[in-house]
Amino acid sequence: MKYLITGGAGFIGSNFIHYLFDKYPEIEIINLDKLTYAGNLDNLKKFSAESGSASGGENYRYKFVKGDIADAELVNKLVRQVDVVVNFAAESHVDRSILDPAVFIKTNVLGTQVLLEAAHKNGKKRFHHVSTDEVYGSISLDSDEKWTEESPYQPRSLYSASKAASDHLVRAYFHTFGLPVTISNCANNLGPYMYPEKFISLAITNLLEGKKVPVYGEGKQVREWLHVEDHYVAIDLILEKGKVGETYFVGPPDEDRPNNLETIKKLLKIMNLPEDRIEFVKDRPGHDVKYAMNTSKIRKELGFTPKYSLDETLKKTVEWYQTNIEWWQKIKGSPEYKNYYDQQYAKR
Ligand code: NAD
Ligand code: TYD
Repeated sequence: MKYLITGGAGFIGSNFIHYLFDKYPEIEIINLDKLTYAGNLDNLKKFSAESGSASGGENYRYKFVKGDIADAELVNKLVRQVDVVVNFAAESHVDRSILDPAVFIKTNVLGTQVLLEAAHKNGKKRFHHVSTDEVYGSISLDSDEKWTEESPYQPRSLYSASKAASDHLVRAYFHTFGLPVTISNCANNLGPYMYPEKFISLAITNLLEGKKVPVYGEGKQVREWLHVEDHYVAIDLILEKGKVGETYFVGPPDEDRPNNLETIKKLLKIMNLPEDRIEFVKDRPGHDVKYAMNTSKIRKELGFTPKYSLDETLKKTVEWYQTNIEWWQKIKGSPEYKNYYDQQYAKR
């Protein structure tokens, strides 16, 4: 089986590539990634990094191509060579979508359409689209509502609006052209190679640097946190057993859901640090209050059970950042990161 993985140099895509190679000895992968600030070939050190190379040894089944999913000519050439397309490539951070919305539309909306068109035109390739729970909007804190796959889309951030548009395009290619698609809408991921701009990776690395954790507003917002391993196992299962045209939610086990402040307090406990390492900063504009998914469909229909509790997920993630200091220090020391951090946090 030959895969085109897009965005495979990012957080979740690189974890998925490691998993596929470990699990399927015969697999072949083309990784198409633009290497934006979030794309990092250090995540894939055990594979060959050179564009176009098919080097010997254990790497002959892996090829990295630096390029844009919105580049129709390149995408056509690559899609022609594979059986399956898994689309991870995206601009993925809400705060950056407030600073610069246009690139979210270019990659998440236009880029996805280019991929879909290529999959359609080159023999209706199996297409899996990786999406987010955020497209469903925001639930109020006093409500017990949980979204299902049938709930209406009500995105409220530039990021989630662009992801929602991409999901609609995926479904339109299914209904119009019969493209064999599936979509997964997943909760917030944690784990190895998470770029240190997201809440928990920023918190862990700031704490390891002796800095404080910036908590937006009063920290009352609620997220569902899933270990990335549970996410990529679910994607693999959807590719194997999922019904084309269908959408599957992927989320953590049923447990109490702490809010952001309580989650950081848990983290501080794990890291043996005092609560005065929390710093309340100005809230995010349009901050979604709560996400909550009913994940019974993937459990019942595909037999998926997430493996890790929140405590285990946080502990494993802390351990990874403690043992991979070089990886994140290189990012945090870069001019791009420093510039973003100043822009995002200096005046808060
Ligand atoms: P990430 O930001 O870590 O990585 C994105 C990757 O896509 C990077 O390697 C980047 O270089 C690449 N990329 C960006 N624009 C591109 C383009 N135009 N062409 C080719 N490559 C491009 O993101 P992530 O956290 O790994 O998320 C992967 C996918 O999962 C995204 O679609 C995101 O919406 C979705 N998702 C993420 C989470 C999460 O918690 N991180 C949760 C649910 C869904
Ligand atoms: P984030 O990791 O950006 O993911 P999401 O896409 O769900 O917004 O943020 C998770 C939550 O943490 C969200 O409610 C915003 C909050 N947050 C902070 O309080 N401080 C921060 O520095 C960041 C990045 C996020």
